[in-house]
Amino acid sequence: MTEQNMAASLKGRNFLTLLDFSTGEIKYLLDQAAKLKKAQKEGEGPLLLKGKSLGMIFENASTRTRVSFEVGMTQLGGHALFLSPRDLQIGRGEPIMDTAQVLSRYVDAIMIRTNSHETVEELAKYSTVPVINALTDYYHPCQALADMQTIYEQKGTFEGLKLTYIGDGNNVAHSLVIACAKLGIDVSVATPVGYEMNQSIISRAKEVAVSTGSTIVETNAPVEAITDADIVYTDVWASMGFEAEQVNREKAFSNFQVNGELVKHAKPDYMFLHCLPAHRGEEVTTDVIDSKHSFIYDEAENRLHAQKAVLAALV
Ligand code: CP
Ligand code: NVA
Repeated sequence: MTEQNMAASLKGRNFLTLLDFSTGEIKYLLDQAAKLKKAQKEGEGPLLLKGKSLGMIFENASTRTRVSFEVGMTQLGGHALFLSPRDLQIGRGEPIMDTAQVLSRYVDAIMIRTNSHETVEELAKYSTVPVINALTDYYHPCQALADMQTIYEQKGTFEGLKLTYIGDGNNVAHSLVIACAKLGIDVSVATPVGYEMNQSIISRAKEVAVSTGSTIVETNAPVEAITDADIVYTDVWASMGFEAEQVNREKAFSNFQVNGELVKHAKPDYMFLHCLPAHRGEEVTTDVIDSKHSFIYDEAENRLHAQKAVLAALV
């Protein structure tokens, strides 16, 4: 597909999960993200969304997502509105159906962070402008896109790479596995028993992996998973909404800490990634996350560039 056709095929679409996008579309978005990053660094980022507005609904806390979307819209010549359910009528029971249709009359795209993926789907169903998933219980596609950009910057390829994810089979894990499957990266995921990934999501990722020739391995053994990894990834043990399980999870995940001992089994030049926020001393130790192997701040920065590419493509 030519670049023009690719741009036309993305216009007006929702960005709910990377499962909805082809390998070519994801590579196109990554390419645009790299170009936008370079242009911004050179001080001449294009104003692709002049006069456009993004509504941002946050039902949960955020540092990176909020700031990167808001700054991203400004850099593209547009504007972002931070909408908290505390202030919106959603908080007083106004249906998503009405909210979607009303917001669609004002803004050019809607971004939402919510615990329930169903809410995002409902918003997308009734919205007439693109809806972007900024994290649900199931997926975090903006994060995975930025992760792929960071991997490509460091490794220069997606071919022949092995990514290992250690920890909770959560939203970040799902989107990471899908992104790896789409781009042909072999992925190995180690979770404690009872904290495995959602099998209906992973079976869809496995179908993708068959077509791209990558593999998805699920295990409960961290050493097995991390052996010869090029990329090591972890996330918090208790995601937003699961805070009450913190103590139980600390016990269940105690053998799943990414520390100096565990990473000895990865490749000598492994790179470490974490979506952040991180809990040093829990899922990862400082000798890993603050080492020369860690690219967490590039990864966080790339949220800005990757999301600008998504916004410019959809709006
Ligand atoms: N990684 C990420 O989404 O961070 P925030 O929760 O700060 O947005
Ligand atoms: N899995 C984490 C990711 C935060 C960006 C959460 O859902 O809280």
